[in-house]
Amino acid sequence: MYKEIILDYYKNPRNRGSLESPQSIARDSNPLCGDVVEMQLKFSNEKVSEIRFNGDGCAISQASASMLTELVMGKSIDEVRKIDKTVLLENLGSPNLGAVRIKCALLPLKVMKTALYQYLGETIPREEGSAIS
Ligand code: FES
Repeated sequence: MYKEIILDYYKNPRNRGSLESPQSIARDSNPLCGDVVEMQLKFSNEKVSEIRFNGDGCAISQASASMLTELVMGKSIDEVRKIDKTVLLENLGSPNLGAVRIKCALLPLKVMKTALYQYLGETIPREEGSAIS
C-alpha cells in the first residue's frame, strides 16, 4: 500500500517548483547520501497560502516532500506546528522504513519546519524537534 502512495507522489509530484517571492525558503540535505530538499512558503492571514518544494533525491524523500506540501497547504500556523512524523508517515501509508530510510522520509519535514520557524523568527521548539526526527 505505502509503495503505491510513494511511487505515485514520486512520479506525479504535487507542488514541485518555485514560488515568486517566497517569504521563507529552507534547504537541507540528508548527510547520509547528500540528497537535497528545499521548501518555499508564503503566508497570508496566519495561514500557509502557497508552498512548493524542489529537490534531488530518492523516491521516499521526494514523495514525502510532495505529500507534505499537500498536508501544509492552507493550514494555519498552529496547525502546521502540530504536523509531526506520525502525521506524515500515516499519510504516506505507514511505510515500514528502517533507521536509514526513515531519514529520507523525515528530511522534508525538518526543512518545512525550518522554513516555518524562520518566517516566525523563532527556532524549532525542542519538543517539536524530537517529534519530527
Ligand atoms: Fe538520499 Fe533517501 S537516499 S534522501
